[in-house]
Amino acid sequence: MTAGSEDANENADRRDKLIEVKSLNKTFSVGLFKKRRVEAVKGVSFDVRRGEIFGFLGPNGAGKTTTIKMLTGLIEPTSGDAFLFGKRVPSAESRRDVGFLPENPYVYPYLTPREFVEMCGNLSGMRGASLRSRTLEVLTKVGIAYAADRQVRRLSKGMLQRTGLAAALVSDPQMLILDEPMSGLDPVGRKEVRDLIFAERELGRTIFFSTHILSDVEAMCDRVTILRQGEAVVSGEIRQLLRGEVLRTDVFLADVTPEATAALEAAGFTLNERPGLVVVEVESALRVEEVLKLALAHGSHIVEVAPRKETLEDLFMRRAL
Ligand SMILES: Nc1ncnc2c1ncn2[C@@H]1O[C@H](COP(=O)(O)OP(=O)(O)OP(=O)(O)O)[C@@H](O)[C@H]1O
Ligand SMILES: [Mg+2]
Repeated sequence: MTAGSEDANENADRRDKLIEVKSLNKTFSVGLFKKRRVEAVKGVSFDVRRGEIFGFLGPNGAGKTTTIKMLTGLIEPTSGDAFLFGKRVPSAESRRDVGFLPENPYVYPYLTPREFVEMCGNLSGMRGASLRSRTLEVLTKVGIAYAADRQVRRLSKGMLQRTGLAAALVSDPQMLILDEPMSGLDPVGRKEVRDLIFAERELGRTIFFSTHILSDVEAMCDRVTILRQGEAVVSGEIRQLLRGEVLRTDVFLADVTPEATAALEAAGFTLNERPGLVVVEVESALRVEEVLKLALAHGSHIVEVAPRKETLEDLFMRRAL
């Protein structure tokens, strides 16, 4: 390969990485005389590729919002590098094609969703009839068109969140950066926003969102980075991370006699009572048959044999807490 083609490959790689974060650090100085230091983000690296839905997961205080604020230029990194579309942050050109939903979006209370979204479109250079029709289109998309002309101070938390999402979408950006997009939404609202994110990806948008809700990441994301106390502890493809290894098998039994309980416990199994059922946790797949034989021999009935695969929750509990 010639040096020229290597350069071309590197450039193509760069173009494909819409977010590139390298050893990013943020230390806040707090307290009296700013003497106490909070290391909010410690050496975090990851990248987000074109067309992905990427989850940025971590418990409260893990450093998600701080990282997002650095990406969107609201605060400066203490050290490290970050690029959006290959352009170093913070810079106006890095943000040009990004729609951003901040955590707890603030909207001036006397504006209406329509006025706020139009104002955001206006700031992105949109004008006239096309701005008005795009505003209505995104308000409809996020399910808030019915309250388009109600003052924001009269909106519920979920309605405000939807208004913020509409504002992130109005300029038709290539990438969305969403800080907790599902927060404040009821179960139907969460499902709607999930579907919206899928639909936006189908339209070619790349979506990077933070959350502390595992099931959202598991259901939606191609890749994930899990943060813990400012550090990236897990990064990778969801499918690879959850390879489907069986952790244990749960055997659900009914009509469990005292003899059956005694026999299973004597064989060293753990039994858990559930309403009308007993669940036997079998750590080794090789011993499932033994449980079934013992249970049947003592008059119990087998209700279900359920292999438990590792979920993102298991991974999270193991690595993020
Ligand atoms: N401006 C600030 N000054 C001092 N400390 C800060 C500041 N902003 C954030 N922190 C601290 O940095 C750490 C990370 O906070 P951050 O808001 O990034 O967490 P998060 O992962 O977004 O949490 P959550 O899920 O609760 O939104 C916390 O310990 C927080 O107290
Ligand atoms: Mg946050």
